[in-house]
Formats: sequence, C-alpha cells, structure tokens
Amino acid sequence: MGEIFNDTNTNKLLKQIDEDLKKELSEKRYKHSIGVMNKAEEIAKIYDADVNKAKLIGLAHDIGKELPKEEKLKYSIENNLGVDEIEKINIGLLHGKIGADICKKRYGFTQDMQNAIIYHTVGNKDMDLLAKILFVSDKIEENRSYKNEEKQVKLEEARRISKENIDKAVLFLIDMSLEYTLKKNELIHPDSIFTRNKIIINLQ
Ligand SMILES: [Fe+2]
Ligand SMILES: [Fe+2]
Repeated sequence: MGEIFNDTNTNKLLKQIDEDLKKELSEKRYKHSIGVMNKAEEIAKIYDADVNKAKLIGLAHDIGKELPKEEKLKYSIENNLGVDEIEKINIGLLHGKIGADICKKRYGFTQDMQNAIIYHTVGNKDMDLLAKILFVSDKIEENRSYKNEEKQVKLEEARRISKENIDKAVLFLIDMSLEYTLKKNELIHPDSIFTRNKIIINLQ
C-alpha cells in the first residue's frame, strides 16, 4: 500500500483547506493554524512521522473552533459525536470532535488523522505519534506567547523539550495546563489525567 497522502495530493488539499480556513476563521486563528502546520512539519521530521499528514492536521485542526456554542452542540448531537459531562459545560472542547468530523467528510482525512484532531484539546491515553505531534504543535507554535513571564519561560522550555522527547513534551504541557486549571478552579477533563498517567508509567 502506497502513501495515501503523497506530496502532490497533499499540496492540493492544503491549498483547499487554506482557502476554507480563510473564509471560516478569524485572522488570528488562521495565523495560528499556519503556525501549527509549520510546527507539526518540523516536529514530524525530527521523529520520522508522516510529514504530509502532520501538515494537513496541523493546518485543519481548529476548523470547527469558531462555530458559535449552540452550533457546536447542535453539530455534535446531530452527527452523533458524543458529548460528555465536561463537554456539556465546556462546550468549546467539542471543536476537536467537530473538526475531525468535518475533515473526514470534506477532505477524506484517515482515522489516525481524525483521532489526532479529536485528541488535540485535552489529550488521550491512546494518542499515537501523529496525535502527540499535533497536541504539542498546537501549544508551542511560533505565534504563541504569554505576557505572564513564568508562562513564557515554560513555553520556551516546552519548545526545547519537544525537540528531544515528544512524550516528555506532552507531559510538560499537560502539567502546565493543569497547573493553571487548578489555579483558576476550573474543570479538569479526566482524559488529561489518563494521558498524564500513561506517559509517566511509560517513561519509567
Ligand atoms: Fe484547538
Ligand atoms: Fe489550535
């Protein structure tokens, strides 16, 4: 079986997604999407992952992010994507599942690409290399920066770790997000905890 996404059809599809995103996303989110595509390409090369798939999911991952809340809920229910108890409250989290569904139907993304997009929000214990690349790229892409100095230092640290050990980068970013979630007394999605535990066990 040859590659499903070769350089020719990938470039064509990237162009199509790019046109769609320009219409469907704000300028800021569009820029973020380009940043994630570039970062995913960079990291995929380091870990010898499928670069074309990494670029495609990097560019498209937030395609459902700017649907209004009610639309997100409606889309998820109508397309049987499943809404868990955390997602019922933090409706924004649904943009992972919605994005994956849109990308399957519109661009023919494969199951592993869909999973990576589903998992990019809170993580998942079953993340494969491609999913880890998207999870990390989303959070460290070059357009991201924090006014909070402590957070900015951690971001730089995450960028460094991402070049050395992708699992450690995922763990570092989950811990970083948990820390702020706790401080703000917000809900923690259990999948973040399951992901964290699995990586810690695997690193031992
Ligand atoms: Fe996202
Ligand atoms: Fe994103």
